[in-house]
Amino acid sequence: MNILVTGGAGYIGSHTCVELLEKGYGVVVVDNFCNSSAESLKRVEKITGKSTALYEGDIRDGALLDRIFTEHKIDWVIHFAGLKAVGESCAKPVEYYDNNLNGTLVLLQAMRKHGCKKIVFSSSATVYGTPEKLPLDELCATGGTTNPYGTSKYFQEIMLTDVYKADDEWTVVLLRYFNPVGAHESGLIGEDPKGIPNNLTPYIAKVAIGELKEVGVFGNDYPTHDGTGVRDYIHVVDLAKGHVAAIDRIAKSGVYTYNLGTGIGYSVLDVIHAFEKACGHALPVSIKPRRAGDIAACYADASKAKNELGWEAKLGIDDMCGSLWNWQTRNPNGYKK
Ligand code: UD1
Repeated sequence: MNILVTGGAGYIGSHTCVELLEKGYGVVVVDNFCNSSAESLKRVEKITGKSTALYEGDIRDGALLDRIFTEHKIDWVIHFAGLKAVGESCAKPVEYYDNNLNGTLVLLQAMRKHGCKKIVFSSSATVYGTPEKLPLDELCATGGTTNPYGTSKYFQEIMLTDVYKADDEWTVVLLRYFNPVGAHESGLIGEDPKGIPNNLTPYIAKVAIGELKEVGVFGNDYPTHDGTGVRDYIHVVDLAKGHVAAIDRIAKSGVYTYNLGTGIGYSVLDVIHAFEKACGHALPVSIKPRRAGDIAACYADASKAKNELGWEAKLGIDDMCGSLWNWQTRNPNGYKK
């Protein structure tokens, strides 16, 4: 069975390629490398001893997609390709909607043309906006997103659902990720953010290695156990396996929505302390004001994925921090030589 992985060279994409190849799936990748590098796929091949078919290009290029679907019989698409930085999306809404919404539309047109009607979509807990309750389950209201990145994820869920409503032969799987962190245990692939990281764990890793001065904690007056923001961090390898579980398990057409999280909330300080344990030294920390747009707490009820897909996160916070530290120390410059 062949899987087309859009954005397969990226952070979550590359980890998912490993899991797919190890399960014996054929993997075709399309990636424009705007936020990734071909080196990650070389590393995927090193880990698995298997190769992917790689097409360098943009999913908004319909002719390229046509060629891919003509040259390969694609059974499922896993759609990661998209822009994902919250702050940047507020400054560049046109680019974000063009990449994310237009990209998905061109992809759907190519899939329809070639009779491929099964898609797993890389969605986010951001679609829940401010949580109506905790833990968040899949029936919680969506929308109320606060930035173009989040809104684009919400719109894409609606677009994909409408495609199924119009043609019930489609299988649409919406995977809502909580906070993916960590790296493959080999230390060969991991997250390689451009410039100064926006997200917590890559930032901590750069402080731990001495590249950045201190970890700024964005607010310590939230109504949480220690006043700092609480999130549901999930190991990227568990997350990757969630995609394979969806493809393995879902046999009937329909729209399926799953939270992929651990169900456990850790605060910013909890994560810093776990990272200190992993890297073996204390980290300089400074309390800063709250970051605009942040919520106090967000964590999943992940029981639906467990019950229906037989998937649950197995790795804990120490594995997340340990594997990230391993990746960071082995690749201080990410994929750059
Ligand atoms: C963000 C995005 C989310 C996206 C996810 C990708 C928002 C509102 N949401 O989630 O849509 O899917 O990234 O992983 O931006 N923090 C610090 N200091 C830092 C960085 C972060 O204290 O230097 C805190 C934040 O305030 C938050 C927690 O760490 O409480 C996690 O932040 P981050 O890693 O940026 O993820 P989210 O904001 O949860």
